[in-house]
Amino acid sequence: MENMQNEPANAHGYRGFSLGSFKFSRDEYFVHIVWPKGRHLMAADAFLRALQRDVAWGFFYGTVNFDAVIATQNHYGTVDLSAGRFNAAYREAKTDFTETFDSEKIRALFAAMLEDWTNEGFDPFASPTETGSAFGPKHGSNRAAISRHRVTAKRMVNAQDDELLRTDQNGFTVNRQFADVAQDEPEINAEPGFENEVRAFNLAGYLSRSDVTWNPSVVSVCKHSLMCPTTEEYVLPIIHGNDRVEWFVQFSDEIHWDVEDGATGAPRAKVVMKPGDVAAMPADIRHRGYSPKRSMLLVWENASPDIPEKIASGKLPLRPVKL
Ligand code: PHB
Ligand code: FE
Repeated sequence: MENMQNEPANAHGYRGFSLGSFKFSRDEYFVHIVWPKGRHLMAADAFLRALQRDVAWGFFYGTVNFDAVIATQNHYGTVDLSAGRFNAAYREAKTDFTETFDSEKIRALFAAMLEDWTNEGFDPFASPTETGSAFGPKHGSNRAAISRHRVTAKRMVNAQDDELLRTDQNGFTVNRQFADVAQDEPEINAEPGFENEVRAFNLAGYLSRSDVTWNPSVVSVCKHSLMCPTTEEYVLPIIHGNDRVEWFVQFSDEIHWDVEDGATGAPRAKVVMKPGDVAAMPADIRHRGYSPKRSMLLVWENASPDIPEKIASGKLPLRPVKL
């Protein structure tokens, strides 16, 4: 199997990492990525924010572009790590490069890199105004922030078995930008015998207490239908190219989406979503969101494992509706 190595600390205090023929290193401002046909650099804060999502989400659905060059593509068991694979200019020049890794191996290396390169005070999940700096020579660590688990309900937050998922019970406070969100909980009057079937919770209140940004949690599950609301502020740290359709419902405030062709990065659309707006993102695009102020977004995913194959073979359309 592919070799994976952690190297000793450099003059800035950061260890180096290699995976197959990719080499990763960081200095005080930048992360350097080197592969047999080229090299690339990213600002350390942007790299760590993207890396944090890839690790926490288990490589997510489809493609996670760290930027226009570096990407992972999830094949659910293996993961492709690539440079220029989803970039028209690299593809035309045949300078793109892809290597396939066992999912657990790349996850372990990414987690080790995230841990070593995240300094004390920097929280890759937090908005820029709610975290310290990512930069400078290595100082300390922030294991508590980077090992947060994504909330994943078995049925629904506050349903039987999922009672502990209400963030208020974990002691989280209302975010400064959601001070006006009501915190009362619904009154439930279940028929005797149905107390464990009829459950409810205040979703807006729940989201107002989220201390992370751009990190959808699974608040309800019905077969493959996952409701994944999230609170957003500043910029989505990845450019996501899904392998299926996903729906967005804007609950509050405003998000601007840059939508590009998933394979080449060619611009396709600008979408400005305001409260109540609903969008279906086609299965052949990639997107990045910009949220000028903290907002609430519902991401609705169909997690059925046969969708990518059905889309790839044309059995399912790229868009769920024809307008
Ligand atoms: C997405 O790429 O669809 C996505 C990811 C994280 C979010 C919102 C949307 O917080
Ligand atoms: Fe997406």
